[in-house]
Amino acid sequence: ETKRWTVTDPVENTQVIKKAAVLLKEGQTVAFPTETVYGLGADATNESAVSGIFRAKGRPEDNPLIAHVATKSQLQKLVSHLPAVAEKLIDTFTPGPLTLVLPSNGTCATNVTAGLSTIGVRIPDHPVAQQLLKECNIPVAAPSANISGRPSPTTADHVWSDLNGKIACLVDGGPTGLGVESTVVDCTQELPIILRPGGVTREQLEVAVGTVMVDPALAGKEGQPKAPGMKYTHYAPEVPMWLVAGSSERIQNIVINERANGKKVGVMASSDTAQRLEADRIIPLGTSLNEVASGMYDALREFKTGDVDLILCETFPEAGIGQAIMNRLEKAATHFLKD
Ligand code: TXA
Ligand code: MG
Repeated sequence: ETKRWTVTDPVENTQVIKKAAVLLKEGQTVAFPTETVYGLGADATNESAVSGIFRAKGRPEDNPLIAHVATKSQLQKLVSHLPAVAEKLIDTFTPGPLTLVLPSNGTCATNVTAGLSTIGVRIPDHPVAQQLLKECNIPVAAPSANISGRPSPTTADHVWSDLNGKIACLVDGGPTGLGVESTVVDCTQELPIILRPGGVTREQLEVAVGTVMVDPALAGKEGQPKAPGMKYTHYAPEVPMWLVAGSSERIQNIVINERANGKKVGVMASSDTAQRLEADRIIPLGTSLNEVASGMYDALREFKTGDVDLILCETFPEAGIGQAIMNRLEKAATHFLKD
């Protein structure tokens, strides 16, 4: 049976945080909110605790986890070397939606890193995550708290519908703010390399540290992605989704054609575009890219089998947070109808 505890104020609800920290220290799995998405945590130094994460999520074992800590000094205890560029990124962006890939010193269990010599480390910027990490005072391995392959959870209900009965505890801290995961940056090379676009944009990183590369596999150009997780199916809604570039007229025409084929068609789009369309179900994502990022996973989960047979989703400009948005939508989509 999964416990579900609500935290409205991490200072007033210290009892809840303390109880959750005890579970983590005992080797149990605890889902908790971060500023990006909910994470499913376990003691990163405890191999069998960590295997509980893989079991609950159905996650492939070759996909490494991020170790979460509250402070820079705790982070330093997990790595053999902190390059100057990594230090600059930590000082500029953390706590925040940034994960650094650094040389591991072996403190964390081998299944956290999936046997790699590097480890992904992150200092989340969420009061509940911060309090919990401070209270338990251990590195906490935590992937997103969803069944592998499904959209990442941005509310406690998302976690509940995926993992109820499979984990020890869910700490409900309300909806997460940002809605897309952290940016994963490899700091083991000459220049930093973005392995997964996320909450901190490439533009922001470059202001802080100069040139930042992007894993060429992300643009579909060459080779295997360097973040093992980027090669798997991800964020999939229950029904097929087509990502459609171009005008609202183009989307409307596809709706009309597919309805003529007997399909019920759902649309997710910016509020502006959504307003101009007619379909069986329309979910407006807001007006700014930040709103799109924050509501996108919820929308993907909202379209259920039986309600619609097909989802059409508009494309977004690939600047700023738009890079993370488009990366996730391309993975969620079964087809990409380009311009
Ligand atoms: O915002 C986030 O990052 C959320 C919250 C819970 O912190 N976590 C998250 O974890 O998104 P997950 O496991 O869903 O995604 C972690 C990504 C995967 O693509 C994984 O392959 C990559 O980071 N990764 C982790 N450690 C790595 C390493 N040592 N080298 C390369 N990639 C790594
Ligand atoms: Mg994930």
